[in-house]
Amino acid sequence: MHTDTVPTISRHDYQPYPYHLPRVSLEFDLNAAQTRVHSRLDVERVGDENQPLRLNGQDLVLESVALDGRTLSAEEYQLQDEILTIFPTSASFTLQITSLCKPAENSSLMGLYVSGDKLFTQCEAEGFRRITWFPDRPDVMSRYRVTLRADPKQYPLLLSNGNLLEEADLPDGRHEAVWEDPHPKPSYLFALVAGDFACREQAITTQGKRDALLQIYSDRGSETKTEWALDCLVRSVQWDEQRFGLELDLDRFMVVAARDFNMGAMENKGLNIFNSAYVLADKDSATDSAYRAIEAVIGHEYFHNWTGNRVTCRDWFQLSLKEGLTVFRDQEFSADMLAQDLSGAEAASARAVKRIDDVSTLRIAQFPEDAGPMAHPIRPESYQEIGNFYTATVYEKGAEVIRMQHTILGEAGFRAGIDEYFRRHDGAAVTCDDFVSAMESVYIQQNPGKDLDAFRRWYSQAGTPRVKVDLDYNAETRTCSITLGQRNEAVGIERLQSPLLPKPPLHIPFALGLLDQQGKAIPLEHDGKTAETVLLELTEEQQTWVFSNIPQKPVPSLLRNFSAPVIVDVERQEADLILLAQHDTDPFARWEAVQELATRQLLALTRSVGEEQQPEVDPRIIETWKRLLLDADLSAAYKTRILSQPTEKELLEKTSPMDPAAAVKASRHLRRQLGEALASDWLSVYRNSAGSDEQYTPDPLSSGRRSLHNLCLYYLMAAGHPEAKPLAVAQYYGATNMTDRMGGLSALVHFSNSPESQEALNHFYEQWQQDPLVIDKWFALQASAPGTTVETIKSLMLHPAFSLRNPNRARSLIFQFCMNNLQGVHTSEGYEFWADQVIALDQLNPEIAARLARAFDSWARFTATNRDAMQAGLQRIQQHPTLSRNVSEIVSKALN
Ligand code: PHE
Ligand code: ZN
Repeated sequence: MHTDTVPTISRHDYQPYPYHLPRVSLEFDLNAAQTRVHSRLDVERVGDENQPLRLNGQDLVLESVALDGRTLSAEEYQLQDEILTIFPTSASFTLQITSLCKPAENSSLMGLYVSGDKLFTQCEAEGFRRITWFPDRPDVMSRYRVTLRADPKQYPLLLSNGNLLEEADLPDGRHEAVWEDPHPKPSYLFALVAGDFACREQAITTQGKRDALLQIYSDRGSETKTEWALDCLVRSVQWDEQRFGLELDLDRFMVVAARDFNMGAMENKGLNIFNSAYVLADKDSATDSAYRAIEAVIGHEYFHNWTGNRVTCRDWFQLSLKEGLTVFRDQEFSADMLAQDLSGAEAASARAVKRIDDVSTLRIAQFPEDAGPMAHPIRPESYQEIGNFYTATVYEKGAEVIRMQHTILGEAGFRAGIDEYFRRHDGAAVTCDDFVSAMESVYIQQNPGKDLDAFRRWYSQAGTPRVKVDLDYNAETRTCSITLGQRNEAVGIERLQSPLLPKPPLHIPFALGLLDQQGKAIPLEHDGKTAETVLLELTEEQQTWVFSNIPQKPVPSLLRNFSAPVIVDVERQEADLILLAQHDTDPFARWEAVQELATRQLLALTRSVGEEQQPEVDPRIIETWKRLLLDADLSAAYKTRILSQPTEKELLEKTSPMDPAAAVKASRHLRRQLGEALASDWLSVYRNSAGSDEQYTPDPLSSGRRSLHNLCLYYLMAAGHPEAKPLAVAQYYGATNMTDRMGGLSALVHFSNSPESQEALNHFYEQWQQDPLVIDKWFALQASAPGTTVETIKSLMLHPAFSLRNPNRARSLIFQFCMNNLQGVHTSEGYEFWADQVIALDQLNPEIAARLARAFDSWARFTATNRDAMQAGLQRIQQHPTLSRNVSEIVSKALN
């Protein structure tokens, strides 16, 4: 398929569907080779007479169509370009369709597919049309009744959405199950699962005293690994009741783990289907971060039950309506779990750990997207393939846009806005604008005469805004004025439009504090209140605020808690950053000050890579690092964040032109110097943070301790300290949990190409070859190791455990190498390998291939040699004769 033939869908072309489908009945004759689906649709016309009824279908064999019981001849309907058109003559009728699909041949993992010996479905965004002919769009909502028939030996368990009405054995030896979902839903939330599973369950009583059953299904034998997931689910249910007053509306809520899954998980009504990586965990096979990721994803999918399912999207341009909001909710859930049982500064620092991780993700994944050829607003204006718009912008920046509304309205105001949103829209398919309007109804009460007009532009403008800060102190009047100015530059395709339209200002909540020269917080008067942190609402190009009673020239603490997804431009002395690093009471801004210090140092190093002698690291940085490392008041988890230098990728983003070799070299130089200069401190903290043999739990305190322990080992290895390797070997073989074991192994593999590291890798494989999720880690570790080349990856692809068809495996080896191994991939062989893999994957799974195709979106910003080679790779992909719509959209935008 080629770009010029692929239609572009525009947000402004939305038209309501002219029919209602109140009831849908589906019967499945399940079989891996060929599944027959009989559908019966009750249809009512909404619009004018004589409107054709158009249904979507893809890779289906149509067997029969009947209107009000009468079978139609081929002349009575149209079948063209994946659309089945019927010409009804009455205002209400029933349509019966029989069709076939082929699950075993479906490697795209969209629609009905086979994973292992089981059957699963994935319908978001447009997978339902691979199951049966249907108006496959989110604003068509129906009640589903589903009958599943299959061989009971191969498929003893038959699940679908809602409640199980009946089960029966059939005369032909098969069995059947009938499910009914009482809640009307769009087709993308349909699901079915068939196979043999183990189940772990727990009965709960909701806030409103309703009984419900929570169930986690997984492969037989893995039921020992679902305790944590079930615990997370129970806590998710409680949290949504307590924080948002939202109760479970089902009698049973099921989560099923699948080995082959394109994404993290899917929120199908009452029957969530998960990538097994976000379900299965025990102390021997899962790291602390895997435990936290499971908590986040279980929470995320559960929270969709209200934000996504009860209120859904009118069309796919509104995707961030459910995703941005639900990511915000899962972030808050995770933060609340980290801060549980803590108060005051300790709680704030625990929450900051989550905030730091989320902001790092945003900066690594979303900022580059917003600056590259795929830049789009959180509510895109157009697409060729909607699967390409499940992006960091829609999800992560979308969550930031929700978070800003929370920051502006406050917790109580936001809650009032959410209540209003459900009061207005429960049961409906709505738009992002509907959400903002509900929030605005609260904003107007709080701020008579104002509105959220400027705020709404966050939904229509792409690009990361830059906020310039100027501070002016007047000693005579003891006043300090703060001027904020915003710049919103053209990005992505906007740059091709001429004349360049000036982009209007956004509503930016900017949290600010001022410290005196001793590092003490200065109380600030603002809006009739006195506080250490004030929220400045920047709504124009430039605004100035004046603070009085400021005894001396202050040091500003900017964009506290990252109150808006912007880049701050400010001139700051090193000394100010060092003061903030020691004293800022906002733990996020404190971390940021340390990052900024390290980034400046790293950038200086990138500029001198060519020189003979690499410059020494500024002793004040080393001093700052040492103080933080030895600070008894900081939690171990927070310390791990503040003492980690920015990643190679973050640094690369800041070089201009982008120079991967320089970024890699500078990063390694800094970490070696930090390792050497503080070697005895890393060693003593390493020893003091050793785990005891008591029972493992993934709680924040002990996992924080483990993360700091592993960080110390990492710096000691970077320094080439004589004790480091023996410690890593001992930690690897002596570990009693996967976090410590991986810490030891990755220290070995990342820093020493030694017999010990090869031995440990072999030992690890022997030990874990039966556990696919652990073997994913084994592949990923090697893919990201410094000495790894294309040759290494190619030989790992020949390993019997490798398969391109399993998305987790492809991600762990190929994506890991292409996206995270800067040293290995930024070579001409690396780019060639990448292009080959995009083409190979595209023949199997376009969704996954299109994600890999985005690895070098920012090719045009690189140094000339890299740039030309990446461009050649993109062109080679584009010229391939059988490209999917997914990959074709990505490469054509990249080359524009
Ligand atoms: N809606 C899912 C989520 O974010 C993501 C997803 C999209 C999964 C498309 C599969 C396919 O929770
Ligand atoms: Zn989601």
